[in-house]
This record gives sequence, structure tokens and C-alpha cells, in this order.
Amino acid sequence: MEDLDKVTAVEAVCFPPAEAADREAFRARIQCFPQCFFVAEIDKEIVGFINGAATDERTIRDEMFEDASLHSPQGCYQSIFGLDVVPKWQHQGIAGELMEHMIQDARKRGRKGLILTCKDRLIGFYERFGYRSLGVSASVHGGAVWYDMILEFAE
Ligand SMILES: CC(C)(COP(=O)(O)OP(=O)(O)OC[C@H]1O[C@@H](n2cnc3c(N)ncnc32)[C@H](O)[C@@H]1OP(=O)(O)O)[C@@H](O)C(=O)NCCC(=O)NCCS
Repeated sequence: MEDLDKVTAVEAVCFPPAEAADREAFRARIQCFPQCFFVAEIDKEIVGFINGAATDERTIRDEMFEDASLHSPQGCYQSIFGLDVVPKWQHQGIAGELMEHMIQDARKRGRKGLILTCKDRLIGFYERFGYRSLGVSASVHGGAVWYDMILEFAE
């Protein structure tokens, strides 16, 4: 919770206002699922983070972004609500490390896989980690077009 202001500030530089989660949304997320919220630090400064609720559903619904209490601790899928790296530190593999950490954590917790929504330009980025596209999402978050992505662990 001591990182609340810093993650809110990072989100504001990484996303347009219609898409950025605000301080209250982050407060609720950190309260509801601190174990699914990881930050990347360099010299004690937060330069990026990844977070998301767990759920039994195979796609993210917009209500999940707004209502952190929908988090289901034993959920089959770890969702990714956001992956952020501040511009100064982008292109150095930090988002990749955060994603790999979340994937390993989901595996350790015995989940079936991970889900996220992304814009078309990032589909290729997520495919590198083993995600595949399920097509256009029902999400109207921030008025944009999103794609549902899923990574399912082999049995
Ligand atoms: C997306 C984001 C998290 C990436 O962070 P990053 O730390 O720069 O990512 P990494 O360094 O781990 O990986 C970047 C590499 O992924 C690959 N990559 C990036 N976009 C890609 C794409 N569309 N298709 C295939 N590969 C892609 C490239 O190899 C890229 O290497 P490069 O930086 O040398 O061009 C960052 O740009 C960001 O915070 N953007 C704003 C917020 C956002 O859009 N978040 C994602 C949606 S939730």
C-alpha cells in the first residue's frame, strides 16, 4: 500500500486518461489482491508494475476492472489488468520480466493459465509469452477496441 501514489503516477504516464486506473481503483486492487500485484524497482524507484485479479472466467469483463472484489483467490486464471513501464525505462526487457514473473507465480499457484485484453498492436508482444488471441473482446474500456488473449498451461 505504501506504493499507491507511485503506481498511480506510473499509470498516468503510461495510459490515456480514459484508460488509466485511478488511485481509488489501485487502492481497492492492492487491498483485494496484494499477492497479484508486482512492481519493478531500479534504485528504489518504481519503474513499472503488473497486476490483475484471479477469476474462473476465460475472458476479462469490464466490471472486473472497476470492482476489485470480484477477485476469486482460487480462480483458474490469473488476469492482467495492466502492464506498465515508464517511457524512460522501456525497451529494456522490464515488461518481459514482469510478465514472466506473473506467469511463474500463476503456475506455482496451480492456475490453468492467464488472460488479458490488449490493443491489436500488442498482440505480437503477448504471443511471445505463449498467449493466443481469442478475437475481439466485448470490452468497451476507454472506448477502444481490445482483443482477448489467453495463455493456457500444458497439463
Ligand atoms: C507495452 C509496455 C509495457 C512494454 O514495456 P517494455 O519494458 O518496453 O517491454 P520489453 O522491453 O519487455 O519488450 C519490448 C519488446 O517487445 C517486442 N515487441 C513490442 N511490441 C511488439 C509487437 N507489437 N509485436 C511483437 N513484438 C513486440 C519487441 O521485441 C520489443 O523490443 P524493442 O523494445 O527493442 O522494440 C510499455 O511500452 C508500456 O508501458 N506501454 C504503455 C502501457 C501499455 O500499453 N501497456 C500494455 C497494455 S496493458
